[in-house]
Amino acid sequence: MTDYKLELEKYLANYLGLKYTVLFSSCRNALYTLLLSFNLKSDDEVMIQDFICDSLPRAVKLAGGKVVSVPVDEETFNLTAKEVKKRINKNTKAIIFVHTYGNPSGIKEIAELCKKHKIILIEDIAHALGAKYDGKLAGTFGDYAVYSFTKQMVNLGGGALITNRDVEKIKILKEQLNRPASKLIKLKRLFASMYESRAFFISKIMIDLARKKSNLKQSNDLDSHYECSNLEARMVLSQIKNLEKDIIKRKENYNFIKDKCKTQKIETKSESGYNYLVQIFQDKEKRDMFLRKNNSFLKPWPNSNVSEILTFVPNSPNFSKNEISSLFNVNRESGADQESLNDVNKNEKTSAKMKNNTKAVLLALLCTFIVSIAQILLKIGSEKFTISWTQVYNYPLLIGGLIYVAGAFIFIKAFRLGELSVVYPVMASGYIMVTLLSVYFFGEIVTLQKTGGIALITIGVVLIGIGGKK
Ligand SMILES: Cc1ncc(COP(=O)(O)O)c(C=O)c1O
Repeated sequence: MTDYKLELEKYLANYLGLKYTVLFSSCRNALYTLLLSFNLKSDDEVMIQDFICDSLPRAVKLAGGKVVSVPVDEETFNLTAKEVKKRINKNTKAIIFVHTYGNPSGIKEIAELCKKHKIILIEDIAHALGAKYDGKLAGTFGDYAVYSFTKQMVNLGGGALITNRDVEKIKILKEQLNRPASKLIKLKRLFASMYESRAFFISKIMIDLARKKSNLKQSNDLDSHYECSNLEARMVLSQIKNLEKDIIKRKENYNFIKDKCKTQKIETKSESGYNYLVQIFQDKEKRDMFLRKNNSFLKPWPNSNVSEILTFVPNSPNFSKNEISSLFNVNRESGADQESLNDVNKNEKTSAKMKNNTKAVLLALLCTFIVSIAQILLKIGSEKFTISWTQVYNYPLLIGGLIYVAGAFIFIKAFRLGELSVVYPVMASGYIMVTLLSVYFFGEIVTLQKTGGIALITIGVVLIGIGGKK
C-alpha cells in the first residue's frame, strides 16, 4: 500500500521549506504534544489570543502551562505587538500566533518580539497554509507551525506539526499517548469536518438544518488517538495541490465584498488564505438580527471583544458573485448598519431571485420526473420482494431506492433555492400530473405515488413550519 503519510510529510515540509513534519490526528493534538515536550512548569506562561477555538487554550492547560489570554486587534482579529509587549515577563515561555481566518497580519512584529525576548513562537496556520506576509509563507516565521486538515479542505480529521527543530521527543510522546481510533470517533470527525467545510458542498441544507435544529457545537476535547490515518493523508494530498488556485478564487470573493461591507482587515503586506468571509457589524444587536435572518452564517468563537459583532461563513472557491451578494446582503456603502443593509441594490437582488426561481422550477420538474421513475422501479422491485439476502440482486428495488434518495436531495435543493410560493405549486402540480398519467397508463395509482403525495404535503408543511429560508 502506498505510504501517503510519508508523502504528505515530505510535501508539507517541502512546501514550507522546513525540515520536519510530524502528522497527528488533529491540530489541537499536535499543539498539545508539542507543549508537553517543553515540560512546562505551572508558572510557565503561554500567550494566546482571546479570540480562538477553545480547544487550544485547553491544550495549553492540559500540557501544564498557564494561559495568558491577549485581546485581538478589532480589525485583523490577530495578536498585536502592542498587546503582547504589555504581557511579556520572565515566565513567558511561548506565544501562539493564530493566523485568524487565514490572515497573517502582524506576524512579522510578533516574530521579532519573540526573537528579542527568546520566546518560543508557535504559528497556528490551521486556516492559513499558502498565506504570506511580505512574500514569506505563514508558518515559517516562528519555531513551530501547527496545521489542521479540516479547515482549508474536507477531511475526516488530521493535523501536523512542521518545524526545523528536533522532533524526536515529540514523536516519542506521540507514540506513548496514542490510542487506537474507534469507528465512532471517525464518524464524529467526519461530521465535524463536513460541518466546518460545508462551503465545499453543493447542497448545504442538510448540514445547515442539522446545525440550526440541534444547535450543534463541536467538541473542544483532545482526540484520544494521535495518529493521522493513511486515508486522511491521501485526502490531503488530493486537495492540497489545488490550494493556491483556491486561494486566488477566495481572494476574488474577499475583494468582491470588501468595498461593500465592513470586513476583516488584511494589512498591505499580507496575502491571506481568505478561508472565511467575515462581516463586521456596529453592535451585537445588529449582528444578531442579521444572524437570525441568515442561516448560512456562523457565530464566531466566544469570549472576545470581537465575538459579538461579527459573523463569518466558510469561503468557498466555488461561490458565484450572485451567491456572495445574496449571502452578504451587500450594499454599495461601506459599513453595515441595518438601515443600509436593507437598502440593498434592488435590481441585483431581483435578478438573483428570478434566476434562483427559474433554477428551482427546473429542479422541481426534474425531481418529479426522476421520483416517478423511481416509483415505477420500486413498484416492480416490490413485486419481487421477500425477506432474504437475495434482495441484493433486486436491482429495480435498489436502483429505485437510490434514485428516490437523489430525488429527495433535489427536492430539498429546489425548496431552498426558490420561493415557496413558486416551487410548491410546481412540485404539487407535477405530482398530480404524474398521478393522473399513472391512472391512465397503469389503471391504478402506483402505490408509492400515494405515499409520495402524502410525503410531499407533509414536507411542504414542515418546510413552511420551520420557516425555510424563503
Ligand atoms: C485556528 C484554529 N486552530 C486550530 C483548531 C483546531 O483544529 P483541529 O480541529 O484540527 O484540532 C481550530 C479549530 O477550530 C482553529 O480554528
